[in-house]
Amino acid sequence: TQTNTLSGETILITAGPTKEMIDPVRFLTNRSSGKMGYALAEEAVKMGAKVILVSSVDSLPISKDVQLIKITSAEDMYQAVMDKYQQATIIIKSAAVADYRPKQISQQKLKKKDGNLIIEFERTKDILLELGKKEDKPFLVGFAAETENIDEYAWSKLERKNADIIVANDVSREGAGFEGDTNIVTLYKKNHTKKELPLLSKNQTAKEILLEIHRDLKEGVRN
Ligand code: PMT
Repeated sequence: TQTNTLSGETILITAGPTKEMIDPVRFLTNRSSGKMGYALAEEAVKMGAKVILVSSVDSLPISKDVQLIKITSAEDMYQAVMDKYQQATIIIKSAAVADYRPKQISQQKLKKKDGNLIIEFERTKDILLELGKKEDKPFLVGFAAETENIDEYAWSKLERKNADIIVANDVSREGAGFEGDTNIVTLYKKNHTKKELPLLSKNQTAKEILLEIHRDLKEGVRN
């Protein structure tokens, strides 16, 4: 029924974890599988949007209609998003981006030594925050993966990152968040309303998020 609801829109979606290299054979990552982001990409294509997907994930199939940009680190993701954001009318940041990376990447494989290993970390760039500062920013949707104080953190993320919608998942709940095929999310919107979705498949959750974006755009919440 919703075929072509999003025709004319170009949606830039980020999906999956980032991988922060320590040395040529080791990296730090997180539990994100990319399923939420790929579901968004798939459903957006079905609704007639042009989709650009920035992802580190190898294992998930994706429609050939999606323009896939493969990345590894948070810095790669930042570069890819900054390169493409002006082509997008909507950006959805479902990726789980590393907040820290090793300050130095060893050129050679680290060798075992006596005693403990200490690795110094530095902050990565906050891609969503940077996008929120752009004067020509597209309609901006961020995610929030929280384990406590969901309401408080989600409202403050919406404000601080200047997003149009924050999709929060309580990742401590059974059936929500990382890895599985389902999610439980609440949408926090700029007009200070929130919309709770029940336990749904990630594809169904994606559809609901995209329909909500469509409704907002129709009501003229475009920047
Ligand atoms: O991939 P799955 O296994 O399907 O799991 C889905 C998911 C749980 C990863 C997804 O639903 C989700 O919640 N993604 C966001 C996870 C996250 O990193 O949240 P955060 O609260 O740390 O970050 C908030 C927002 O800022 C996110 O939109 C994130 O993409 C963005 N961010 C964070 C750090 C950074 N350096 N740059 C960013 O843009």
